[in-house]
Amino acid sequence: MFEVRPVTSERNLYGREHREALGRLKENVEEKTFTAILGPRRVGKTSIIRVFLNKYPYRYIYYDLSPFMGRQGISYTELAPAMINIETEKLSYRAQLSLGLIRLDLKPESGVQFQNALINLLRELNGKYDDLLLVIDEAQVMPLIRGINMLGLLQLISNTMDNTTVIMTGSMPGLLERILNPSASKPMFARYVDRIFIPRWTSDESIGYLKKGLREAKVPHTRAELEEAVEELSNVPGFLAYYGKMRTRGMGHEEALREASNYAVGIWEQDLEAFLNIYSTRAYVTALWVLSRSRFGLTRKEIASEVLRRENISDRSLSRILKNLVSSGMVEHSRKRGKYRIAEIPLAKAIENIALRYGIR
Ligand SMILES: Nc1ncnc2c1ncn2[C@@H]1O[C@H](COP(=O)(O)OP(=O)(O)O)[C@@H](O)[C@H]1O
Ligand SMILES: [Mg+2]
Repeated sequence: MFEVRPVTSERNLYGREHREALGRLKENVEEKTFTAILGPRRVGKTSIIRVFLNKYPYRYIYYDLSPFMGRQGISYTELAPAMINIETEKLSYRAQLSLGLIRLDLKPESGVQFQNALINLLRELNGKYDDLLLVIDEAQVMPLIRGINMLGLLQLISNTMDNTTVIMTGSMPGLLERILNPSASKPMFARYVDRIFIPRWTSDESIGYLKKGLREAKVPHTRAELEEAVEELSNVPGFLAYYGKMRTRGMGHEEALREASNYAVGIWEQDLEAFLNIYSTRAYVTALWVLSRSRFGLTRKEIASEVLRRENISDRSLSRILKNLVSSGMVEHSRKRGKYRIAEIPLAKAIENIALRYGIR
């Protein structure tokens, strides 16, 4: 049960919202409604899609853009699909050639050739199957792909390929919104996109998940241990899976939690570094650090008084920084409480480590 890779079988997909998402995704695909699955990192977006593709016999082409997060640009020559489920032997000669190009078995001579190959292939598949899925995991990366126009391609599918449905995921909600909500200057994406938001588990779900797995594996545990793990790992499925795995390997609670927490902090450090590759200003680190030191969050005013004292930036820049941090999913803004806070405890710890490297204190 405690697998640190994406879940692929429905039996192992835990959590009410996760399971409901499967049903909603099914309805959407039947109606051919484009869908975006949004939520924090490691919450289970890829798992939902993998379970879905496993459960139903749809034909699909699956692009995983997650390895490119934090890159400033991606070339189409890196864009081989992670998974393809089509009857390749039944394709026309021309479509086979196109497939070779998009799989990068053949070297495309230019972005235009690559893009045309993808369009040709999709056209033929769209004509052949009643349902075809184009899945783009971590789709907020799309605008950074050089040499081809992914958003234009989605527009083309939306306008002309009636049997094809696009499913996207996004863990940087603000960035994907910018793609999904076309502005007047960028009218790219006309079709309605249904958004399914996947939250972290509730504490009850997190405890239920650990309990179930530990029981199955016959690992003795106490309620207090599980409560501590759930709190410390902030209800993140990916981190709880890691804790569970350590315990089924024979570690006691303390050690397993230490391992899982180190793992979580380490992963967040990598994510932070990727983020700072793009937003490479020290003021971002300072803003994160100021927030990471407050347990219950800070108001805009409190943040300003701390950050502007340390960094020579304008109040307007601070607004932009906060907006991008919220868009990235690392900072949560509760309008009701009027406060900003760091979304997860392991992230707050990772921020402290990174801030040290920047000499921020
Ligand atoms: N619903 C779930 N039930 C059980 N485990 C889950 C679930 N969602 C996520 N996980 C665990 O969390 C890890 C991260 O999930 P993943 O689907 O890769 O998240 P995301 O795509 O949102 O970053 C998975 O490898 C799996 O171990
Ligand atoms: Mg994923």
